Amino acid sequence: MKTKSNKAVHPIGIGTWGISSFNNTANADSKYRGVEPVYGNEEEEIEAIRYSITQGQNHIDCAEMYGGFYTDEVVGRAIAGLNRTDLFVADKLWKTSVSTGTVRGTVEKMLKKLGTDYLDLLYIHAPWEDAPWEEAIPQIDELIDEGIVRGFAVSNFTVEQMQRAMELSRHTLVANQVHYNALYKDEADETFVKFCQENDIAIVAYRPVERQEVLHNETIQQIAKSNDATSAQVAISWLLAKGALPIPKATKKEHIDENLEALNLQLTTEEIEQLDRL
Ligand SMILES: NC(=O)c1ccc[n+]([C@@H]2O[C@H](COP(=O)([O-])OP(=O)(O)OC[C@H]3O[C@@H](n4cnc5c(N)ncnc54)[C@H](OP(=O)(O)O)[C@@H]3O)[C@@H](O)[C@H]2O)c1
Repeated sequence: MKTKSNKAVHPIGIGTWGISSFNNTANADSKYRGVEPVYGNEEEEIEAIRYSITQGQNHIDCAEMYGGFYTDEVVGRAIAGLNRTDLFVADKLWKTSVSTGTVRGTVEKMLKKLGTDYLDLLYIHAPWEDAPWEEAIPQIDELIDEGIVRGFAVSNFTVEQMQRAMELSRHTLVANQVHYNALYKDEADETFVKFCQENDIAIVAYRPVERQEVLHNETIQQIAKSNDATSAQVAISWLLAKGALPIPKATKKEHIDENLEALNLQLTTEEIEQLDRL
């Protein structure tokens, strides 16, 4: 990803949705709904993030709203004491943090929680209809000018919305993070992929194993079997073959190891086409 950090990003990122909570859906927006977040097993999760990093994964995908606005703190504890220059930390602005005058304060809070003084990438989490996401862009521009943020990105944006974001920004649009995997390609269709390629916009693929659904698909299972691989590896390998950057969330050591092994799996053109058709 071409940010001002100028860092090499590992092809497989570290997802953090669900970190710090057993039931993240219940936690979403908990602050606003006045409910107590349900916390997960932080020590194990911290261990998992640190293990992923020791295995070479340097791209950590955060968002301010994960875990009811708490997950960033857990990530901060996981990366405490590590060499910051080796890490590529991305965070996302939630809809309550995009209007004029709110981005700087939000980023300062993110930095405090994460224990760092800059973000490698800052996303607008979604193009909400009920939040003025466009207002975030000049504010992100300023933070990039100051080096506090090193790259501008969007998430869940269509081609038209990316074009609008590019018109409004003085900086390059580095990435678009979308729901993309072998079973779900609605957003990242042909036009979308072509536009991103032509404009050098990285496609960061969230839910790369479709929250384990890929494990139950027969075609994926068959391809896995004939390659002596697992279904998760086939799903991740397919995304890599598409030029996307998958960011699986994996807290079990065996899942982390398994996902990284996907880098050694070479699917044939035929297999890729079979997966394209799913
Ligand atoms: N921008 C957005 O709007 C948006 C939306 C959703 C997600 N995201 C980002 O994308 C990341 C990934 O998406 P996700 O967490 O929703 O879904 P996911 O990565 O597709 O699935 C995560 C689940 O799959 C399991 N898993 C991981 N590797 C596995 C393997 N090799 N075999 C079997 N199970 C495996 C994990 O288990 P264990 O944890 O037990 O290992 C976890 O339960 C998120 O964490 C978040 O950072 C962004």
